[in-house]
Amino acid sequence: MAEDYLWYAGIPFPATLYKTEGIKAAHEKFVVKDEDIITVTYPKSGTHWMIEILCLILNKGDPEWIRSVPIWDRFPWIEMEWGSRRIRDMKEGPRQLTSHLPIQLFPKSFFTSKAKLIYVIRNPKDVLVSGYYFYSQSKIMKHPESLQQYYEWFIQGNVQYGSWFAHVLGWMSMRERENVLVLSYEALKKDTRSTVKRICQFLGKKLEPQELDLVLENSSFQAMKENKMSNFSLMDRSYFPAGVEMTRRGMVGDWKNHLTIAQAEAFDKIFREKMAGFPPELLPCD
Ligand code: A3P
Repeated sequence: MAEDYLWYAGIPFPATLYKTEGIKAAHEKFVVKDEDIITVTYPKSGTHWMIEILCLILNKGDPEWIRSVPIWDRFPWIEMEWGSRRIRDMKEGPRQLTSHLPIQLFPKSFFTSKAKLIYVIRNPKDVLVSGYYFYSQSKIMKHPESLQQYYEWFIQGNVQYGSWFAHVLGWMSMRERENVLVLSYEALKKDTRSTVKRICQFLGKKLEPQELDLVLENSSFQAMKENKMSNFSLMDRSYFPAGVEMTRRGMVGDWKNHLTIAQAEAFDKIFREKMAGFPPELLPCD
């Protein structure tokens, strides 16, 4: 099993899942349509939770779709081989798409389109811990020998999709656009109902109170953990051995259970340097 990276424009991608032509085609040729809805995140920021919520909003809370179609087929990844095949097979009408691409590699056509894009950000220390547990169990990229090693890779941007800092700074530059909504994992956790209402407003969808209740109920951590279409239990076992779950803890601040005080303090210092000038209220790192 090759666990090395494929480097494209200075960004590492797991060679097991990506091809140079696929990333290049996504960037240069992929045609975004005005009616598309796109979820974009740095990996481990709550991508799948957002997808589940969007699927439910689009179906007024009815869980039939999320319980019958794997999550990666519902919101295929633009830059992945199988994702782009799935997108090609999609029927006419609004498409639901996902991407982890940094802004400089995102489909160029998006920037002149009216497609609606939701970017989810998350406390990078939780992203780091989440990624460490996920990638050290899966077989899609180099295994870190320890959390300390993964911590160093993360800070250097030597992990899939590159530097968290660059990814977030790049995408946050789009936050004033009418067709871009930036949300944090933390806000979604703290007040899921209000945040889902914000998403509905952004998408121009109106839900009745009981439909909103169904969205919340069916996208809860427990519901996703039990949904085999969403919890990764149907994933290819050669990449994701049994036990690798997308729904691990689903908490805000789990980093406190894993990083040492010294690691957290050193991280905060780097965060302040790299994110200098970035409004702290938009992304707390506590
Ligand atoms: P943890 O590893 O900290 O638990 P992504 O989808 O971008 O890979 O992000 C995965 C993270 O989102 C995991 O974080 C996972 O537990 C969390 N997550 C997934 N579904 C969730 C839900 N319904 N509610 C809260 N967190 C969820």
